[in-house]
Formats: sequence, C-alpha cells, structure tokens
Amino acid sequence: MKVEPMQVHSDREQRDLGDTPPEEFRRQLHALADWIADFRQNIDSLRVAPDHKPGAILANIPAQPPEQGDPFDKILSDVDRLIVPGMVHWSHPMFLAYFGWTTTAPGILGEIITAPLNVNAMTWRTSPAATELETLVIDWIRQWVHLPPEFGGVVYDTASVGVMHALAVAREEAAPSVRKRGLIGAGAPVFRIYASEQAHSSAEKAAIALGLGEENVQRVPTDAAFCMESSALRQIITRDLRDGFKPLAAIATVGTTSTASVDPVREIAKICREFKLWLHIDGAYGAGFAILPECQSLTAGWSDADSIVVNPHKSLFVPLDFSVLYVRDLERLRRVFTLVPEYLRGDTVEAQKNYMDYGIQLGRRFRALKAWVIFRSFGRDGMAARLREHIRLANLFADWIRNDDRFELAAPVSMGVVCFRFIGDAAPSPRADTAARGRAGSSDSLDRINSDIVERINASGHAYLTQTKLRGRTVIRIGLGNVLTTEEHLRKVWELIQEVASQSERVNTD
Ligand SMILES: Cc1ncc(COP(=O)(O)O)c(C=O)c1O
Repeated sequence: MKVEPMQVHSDREQRDLGDTPPEEFRRQLHALADWIADFRQNIDSLRVAPDHKPGAILANIPAQPPEQGDPFDKILSDVDRLIVPGMVHWSHPMFLAYFGWTTTAPGILGEIITAPLNVNAMTWRTSPAATELETLVIDWIRQWVHLPPEFGGVVYDTASVGVMHALAVAREEAAPSVRKRGLIGAGAPVFRIYASEQAHSSAEKAAIALGLGEENVQRVPTDAAFCMESSALRQIITRDLRDGFKPLAAIATVGTTSTASVDPVREIAKICREFKLWLHIDGAYGAGFAILPECQSLTAGWSDADSIVVNPHKSLFVPLDFSVLYVRDLERLRRVFTLVPEYLRGDTVEAQKNYMDYGIQLGRRFRALKAWVIFRSFGRDGMAARLREHIRLANLFADWIRNDDRFELAAPVSMGVVCFRFIGDAAPSPRADTAARGRAGSSDSLDRINSDIVERINASGHAYLTQTKLRGRTVIRIGLGNVLTTEEHLRKVWELIQEVASQSERVNTD
C-alpha cells in the first residue's frame, strides 16, 4: 500500500475537521442555558398541544439532507420556530394525560452532564463509574421501596423491555435449554401467562417477542375496583392445566394503566407458589409510591415475587427513559443473557458487574447519572413531599367531581390518577357502567360526550387529558405527576372541563 505524504491543513481547514472551537462552544452553551431556563420559566404560556395537521412540521423543513453545516444559533432559532410549536408539551403544568410524568431542573442538569461523557456502560471496564453508579442507584431505589436485599436490578429503557426479560428467565427456568435450542428444539410446552384485564399490553408484546404467542396471555377478570380477582386466576390456571397448557407466570400490577388499581399481590403470590409460577410485579407506575411510609401497604407480597419492574421515569422524577427490572437473585437473569463475544473478552472483569450480561442490549447509555443527580438533589424526603402533593391534588380533584352532580367518579382514586365521567343532569348512579340517563341521553351518547370533552380540551391547547374505557364505557382520566402543576392549574382545568362539558352536551344532544 502506498502511503501518501502527510497533508498539512491551514488553521481554517483544521477547524472544519474537528469539533466546535472551545470559546464558540462556551458561548453556545451559555445561550442554550438561557434557552432552557426561559423554556422552563415560560412553559405556562405555550399551547399544551399543537393545532397542526399531520405533516405540517415536515412541510416546513427541507427534505434534502444539508450539504453545508448551519451555525448553532440558526439551528436553535429553528427549534423555536418549528419544533417547540409542534410539540405536545408533556412538561406543561396543564398536561394531565397518561401518568403526568415530569421534567425537573435536576433531571435536565443530569441529562446535560451525561451528554459530554457519552460513555457506553456495557462492561465495568468500559465504564467503571457508570457501572458502579448504576448498581448504587438501583440499590437506593430498592431500599426506598422496601425490596429485600436478595433483589438485584438492571436499568433498561422501559418496563416493556423489563417484562420481556423477566419472562425470558421464567421461560428458561421452566424449559431449560430454550436459550440454546429454541422453543421447538427444547420441546417446550405451550406456556400460559396471566395478567388482569387491566394490565398493560406490554405483557402481550413480551409474549410476541419471546415466541410464546400473544393469545397465551390470559386476561383475568377484575373486581369492582379494577383489581385482579384472585379466585378467577386460580380457576383459569386450573382450566389451563386440564387443557394441557403449562402455566408459566402471573403478572400482578401495582398501579394499572387506566385506574392505577393495585392487584392483590399477596394472594396472587400464594397461587404462584402453589402452581410454581413465576411472579412478576408490574410496578411501572405504582411501585415508586412505596417510598411514602403511608403507602407501605402497597408492598404487601413483593418479597414473594421473582421480578418487579419500577419506572422512575413515571413516578420518581427521572426523565424518560429509566426503568429498573429487579430479579430475585439477579444471577438468574445473567445466566439467560450472558454471552461474551470474543472481541469483548478482554473488557470483562470477573467479579465485576458487566451490565451487558443482563439483557439483549450491548451498548447502554449512562442513565444512572441523571437518576443520581435527581435523587441527591431531592432526597427521599423531597420526592416523598412531591408525591404526597400529587396524591393530595388527585383527591382534591375527586372532591370537586363529587360535588358536581353532572359528573361521577368512574373508579376509586388511586395515587395520582382520577377517572371520571360526565353523566349530564341526572342523579349520580352508584356505578359508572350503569350511568344514569340524563338530559344527555343513553350511555352511548354519554360516551360520545365524554370523548368529545377530551378532544375539545386537547384541541384547545389549554390543557391535555386522556380518555379510557372502563367496563365498556368511555371515561375521562387525569394523572397528577408534574412538579409544575399547582392547585391553581388544576382548578383551571376543572373549570375548563365543566365549561366544555356543557358545550359538548348541547352539541351532542341537539
Ligand atoms: C402499568 C404499566 N406497565 C407498563 C407500561 C409500559 O411502560 P414503558 O413505556 O416503560 O414500557 C405502562 C405504560 O404506561 C404501564 O402503564
């Protein structure tokens, strides 16, 4: 091979080859710091959701990739011009959809510190501090939510990924050598997984990914408070055994997606022990509330679980994404997923955690840093105070609903979640599914009105809510969780709901 003589670049050319010069970068960072602080300070004044039609944002951005670079100032002004108005602002104080998760100043600072480090936390050797900090924050959360020390964890992006890994371990333990030979090669039976009808669809996604089959996730009925009926679980398992299926795992949810209901984990754990099932607890939303002494009853039965997922990005103030899967004896997870390619052999250090061994991901972000910054900034006390405030606001909102005969609660208030339904001028019915018929008419037309209320409010840009179905009826749902949401914001949302409900009722009954 002929080696060309070394080329000498001018200062200008050298600059174009490397990174932004330090002084310019410093100036950009200062501008960005102001931009972030202004954004947080003025977020109230933004529309919560855009009024764009699909495609409107792309229509304003050149489709061709840039040939020449743009200055940062221009890019940032395009963020202001094109991106910010095209967002649903999840950190807006009047965004009350889903679980109302939050952005916080320490969370933003944590993300900023993480960016220049840009490490790959795949092994201890490639990232000693990232690995050790991950182990540390996982254990802090474990202590806060009162999980016994035999639970070890790993940080993934989401709870969906967590449940998939948990069920992979359950599958391997029930049919050893699936990892090596696959389901058919290992002669695996048809496995069944049980979750309540209110459980999250990530159970089915996991079954799809693991080759277990979506239909083999059996949904168990719930009681009047939307909690799994443990007697029905037992019946379904017994039926499956009779029909030749192999019960593999049960998923108990602590904080279901629609109503934040809590399954009877202790009773489910007993059934799991009796039938030798893996018990996974989906605490994606609810488990974080166990840091409150007054919510410790939530943890009943957790010590009997095989795995539990906690999403600090839902209820413990960490920005998306940050989800922890805990497994009782984490070595069970490692056995299923460890696989060290030759080129990484030198990077693995025995007796140290190499987090690549605990899941399918090799490259891993340094997520623990932002969690560490937040947990240190707030302390357990600060997080508990904020969670308590969300619970207080949820209950206050529920009181407003109880005091307006045109509305009724559609489920018990749980943690930061309130589900309710507009029922018109009728007297409140004892149950949401037998909603009284008022001026607004039949249950179907009430469904339309409830859906219409949410759509009108979301389209207004003033607030953002979600709707869900409970027992076949459409209900409105709010989730408190944003540190910026005050009682005043909530009152404004309530007034908006009342006003829009009247308009909606008029339009839909005319
Ligand atoms: C109870 C519950 N479990 C799991 C999930 C999935 O969470 P993730 O987005 O982290 O996968 C959700 C999502 O909202 C949820 O509500």
